[in-house]
Amino acid sequence: MSITLLAIESSCDETAASVCRDGHILSNIIASQDIHSRYGGVVPELASRAHIQNIVPVVDQALKTAGCELSALNAVAFTQAPGLIGSLLVGSEFAKSLSLSLHIPLIAVHHMQAHVLANLIKGSTDQDALPQFPFLCLTVSGGHTQIVICRSPAELKVIGETTDDAAGEAFDKSAKMLGLPYPGGPLVDKYAATGDPLRFKFPEPRIPGLNFSFSGLKTAILYFLRDGKDKDPLFIEKNLPDICASIQRRIISILINKLKKAAGETGIKDICLAGGVAANKGLRAAFRETGQGLGWNTFIPQMEYCTDNAAMIAITGYFKFLEQQFSPLTVTVSARATW
Ligand code: KG4
Ligand code: ZN
Repeated sequence: MSITLLAIESSCDETAASVCRDGHILSNIIASQDIHSRYGGVVPELASRAHIQNIVPVVDQALKTAGCELSALNAVAFTQAPGLIGSLLVGSEFAKSLSLSLHIPLIAVHHMQAHVLANLIKGSTDQDALPQFPFLCLTVSGGHTQIVICRSPAELKVIGETTDDAAGEAFDKSAKMLGLPYPGGPLVDKYAATGDPLRFKFPEPRIPGLNFSFSGLKTAILYFLRDGKDKDPLFIEKNLPDICASIQRRIISILINKLKKAAGETGIKDICLAGGVAANKGLRAAFRETGQGLGWNTFIPQMEYCTDNAAMIAITGYFKFLEQQFSPLTVTVSARATW
């Protein structure tokens, strides 16, 4: 029997739906919420309201693109945690209603597990083959930075994570200090492309083990920009590409050095990237180059499977379906990331 599954992702400011059949993604629809850029960050209440407006057309589009009737669905999956509670509730209540009315199982999915398993979507990465278990994954998003060992789709262990800001936050907060609009990560990436990454030096924190820290870098950037502007009020405007390239280089070196340590300690050679920051061109290039030098098999999902999307919820839901890991209608959403 083939397994057709609808997945819904609504953890933050993207309303997304995907249909997957037997592990193949048939549709991957995303409605982004532009309203937040004028506030310099995601406003939770506005996000919830936008999800309510978007969810029916997004699900409808996902079904139409996949050429799938509601009656063909075998299960419905949704993001259960972590995320903004109001946003998660819109997706979970919608999924529960479908589960109840169509008499199909409900599958609760962890957003961070799904980012990792995006690497298991067939045709998702830059490689023909899928990563072999056990593999390592560096998950870098707006809210999380983790190194995970994945022994099977269901067995994931976090072996390193940030003690303060996430890598995406480091990009977004740096961009904010530079006067760039939210979310600034992609803009830092864009300006960095023409800048000199060695022009300005920022510190690399000494954090023991496999954990990360980005708050010291944030403070260093704040003081660096203050001093620069004291000397020349147009310091940022005159040096934007070099500043972006230098900040990006340091964020990347913090990430790659810990990943090298994790690979060295575990002896694992199949290594994946995941999360929104995996869309960063500098990180993708540094990851590939490091992998070539150290004999890793590197895997990077296409951009649409890096940033928040429902295809990653669908593939995770598919593996949970195979294990019959269904949830009761009483399952609750959670803002926290506990696995
Ligand atoms: O995974 P994601 O879409 O959402 C969360 O689960 O947080 O990640 C969003 C984060 C934001 O911080 C955004 O600025 C960052 O990913 N991001 C980037 C790039 N594209 C997205 N950061 C640096 N360079 C990029 N090209
Ligand atoms: Zn995410």
